[in-house]
Amino acid sequence: MHPTINIAVRAARAAGDVILRYHNQIDLLTIETKSTNDLVSEVDKTAEKAIINEIKKTFPKHSILGEESGETIGDNDFQWIIDPLDGTNNYLHGFPQYAVSIAFIEKGIATHAVIYDPFKEELFTASKGKGAYLNMGISEGGKYSRIISNERLRVTSTNGLKDTLIGTGFPFRHPEHLDCYLKTFKAIHRQVSDIRRAGSAALDLAYLAAGRLDGFWEIGLNIWDIAAGALLVKEAGGFIGDFSGRDKYLETGNVVAGNADVYKILLKTIHPHLSDELQR
Ligand code: IPD
Ligand code: CA
Ligand code: CA
Repeated sequence: MHPTINIAVRAARAAGDVILRYHNQIDLLTIETKSTNDLVSEVDKTAEKAIINEIKKTFPKHSILGEESGETIGDNDFQWIIDPLDGTNNYLHGFPQYAVSIAFIEKGIATHAVIYDPFKEELFTASKGKGAYLNMGISEGGKYSRIISNERLRVTSTNGLKDTLIGTGFPFRHPEHLDCYLKTFKAIHRQVSDIRRAGSAALDLAYLAAGRLDGFWEIGLNIWDIAAGALLVKEAGGFIGDFSGRDKYLETGNVVAGNADVYKILLKTIHPHLSDELQR
């Protein structure tokens, strides 16, 4: 295994330990509101510190962008993008769908990704050109050496939207896009088997890579919600883009993803309902 992904996995596990330590004591947590509908708890912050601490032991000079601590400028060629707890709202309600998301970017290109669901003990990993995996074992032994399975991930091979299960997220932090979003929802809803809003965009993308979802779309995500999941999707043979089918999704936060056919149809279905702002 590449040493960098080893570090990313170790960091994600350290954050997972923090998340699980408090998951039965949510009432005791200090919760702050960052902005409307955007909560942060001390678990998010402590988990992010645990990740950064692990990364810095090996890579003290790398740049880091963490959702909670912002940007630490270091060597510009190497950047870590961290969401210590994707699905905070779920976590704070005891709804077990949340994950740690870590991406490693080399000279602007994502090369390693880890999404770790500590509650279900599911570890999704990908390295550029090497595929995407679920529950990869760690070779170093010790606390986390247990190998549950080592499954190579592939997106589904469905053609068309009939019988598909599609993931999405509601624009609860972007009420200005709600009308547009509901139009896209209606257009997609007519054609698919069902739609899921599970509350963690990182896990939505990991589930797409694992063939548990056939497609995904969401408006207004942040780079730390998407960076790791995008590599997983691509390494599992899927496609991901912005609403124009280009690769600006990390900048715009507007994401469409799926297997080859579902991706194409989702883009075509969504496009007529977008405002001018969202078409850019
Ligand atoms: C959120 C989750 C959610 C998505 C939101 C994100 P957070 O991340 O990914 O599924 O709909 O837009 O902000 O705030 O829980 O890290
Ligand atoms: Ca997030
Ligand atoms: Ca978060």
